[in-house]
Amino acid sequence: MKNVTWSSRFTKQIDLEVLDFSQSLSIDIVLYEVDIRVTIAHVQMLSVCGHIKTSEAKTIIKGLKSVKKLAESDKLPWSIEYEDVHMNIENALVALIGDLGKKIHLGRSRNDLVTTDLRLYLRDFIDLYVDKIRETQNVLAIMAKKYASDLFPGFTHMQVAQPVTFGHHLLAWNEMLFRDEKRLLNTRNILNEMPLGSAALSGTSLKIDRKMVAKELGFKGITTNSMDAVSDRDYVCDFAYTNSMIMMHLSRISEELVLWMNPQFGLVELDESFCTGSSIMPQKKNPDVPELIRGKAGSVYGSLIGLLTLMKGLPLTYNRDMQEDKTLILESIDITMSCLSLLPRLISTMKLNKAKGKEVAASFFSTATDLAEYLSKKGMPFRLSHHVVGDIVKYCEKNNLELTDLSIDQLKNFSPLISKDIYKALDPMICIKSRTGIGETSPSSVTKQANAILARLKKHESVK
Ligand code: ARG
Repeated sequence: MKNVTWSSRFTKQIDLEVLDFSQSLSIDIVLYEVDIRVTIAHVQMLSVCGHIKTSEAKTIIKGLKSVKKLAESDKLPWSIEYEDVHMNIENALVALIGDLGKKIHLGRSRNDLVTTDLRLYLRDFIDLYVDKIRETQNVLAIMAKKYASDLFPGFTHMQVAQPVTFGHHLLAWNEMLFRDEKRLLNTRNILNEMPLGSAALSGTSLKIDRKMVAKELGFKGITTNSMDAVSDRDYVCDFAYTNSMIMMHLSRISEELVLWMNPQFGLVELDESFCTGSSIMPQKKNPDVPELIRGKAGSVYGSLIGLLTLMKGLPLTYNRDMQEDKTLILESIDITMSCLSLLPRLISTMKLNKAKGKEVAASFFSTATDLAEYLSKKGMPFRLSHHVVGDIVKYCEKNNLELTDLSIDQLKNFSPLISKDIYKALDPMICIKSRTGIGETSPSSVTKQANAILARLKKHESVK
């Protein structure tokens, strides 16, 4: 079997195992739609620049639209004989309209075509992702408002540390996702330059209008060095990194869900339709979805490391190694998307166990910091207040008491600065209400912040 596009200088046929080994059709077939989009824009430009006749361009574009229909209805005879999606599309076009179809590959090569296609393909995904991330932020902001004044334990070192509001915790998740949104938009911005026309590596001797094609395809501009343009896969790594960050966040959120819904914590309930049972222990309601999200993060990191390793030793310009980029980024995209799609739905089923939240938030001397701040507000240096409260906690632990169990006289023994208003400082509800600054835990701060998020989200119709 001889490859029609490049085999004329060969006397031997390609080894069949080599053909199977080197083809990328099985992976890059997903690019068929963007590939046709790009070629239509390219052909329009070739005709405007006088390299092909207007009537020829019309026939070619009509042919390309028919190829697209064939592909959509599963009637395109894909074959690994043509190596990749680009050659399959061209071959299908030639089968439909004859040798005229061979005119499309002028002033370009597969090296610039593949990276142009991939940029468009990833850009479409980024737009989808941004929508999903915003949807999740929306869910979180609405829930944060709902739970703006409900007490919840705030942890450090996985031990109860200070009381917070549940809404505040949900808005902490929101911040992570907002940064992901910004990273996605940044990645979109970086990849949104068009390499087409860089050809194999050095550009083309034909006078072409790259800016026209870029505009048609929605790129914000064109790449400015043809050698870099065909060698650059930074944007693929950027997307893989952005996905890794998203998965790291989703995994942390998942970890918290796993802990909170553990019956020993009993802080939240997830809807049954998002949980699974055990095949042997009839009583179990397991958090498999968050566990799987947590587990899948590893594969997404793997894709990032794979991509960085793929690129690290490559001399300029195109090297066939780069074909592997698609396997890696597509896996990263698939996994991240499935998690991003499920998580907002899962979170929206989450119900806070308010009584438990309140109980745990008040336990383990969680208001000890407020007691120390109470003393410092009365003039005691904080280091000293910290020490005094440490003594009080030690006393309570020894006698199996809560801070609020101590009488005013007992408390005064530790410091004469303490008076009756101390009990207010020890009330978790008063503690949280006193933290009214921007980004703090008070119900009013949380409501304000959630409203600001909702207002911001409302402004976005779509990223495009
Ligand atoms: N299938 C190839 C890829 O994805 C297309 C580029 C082919 N270029 C080449 N010089 N063989 O990278």
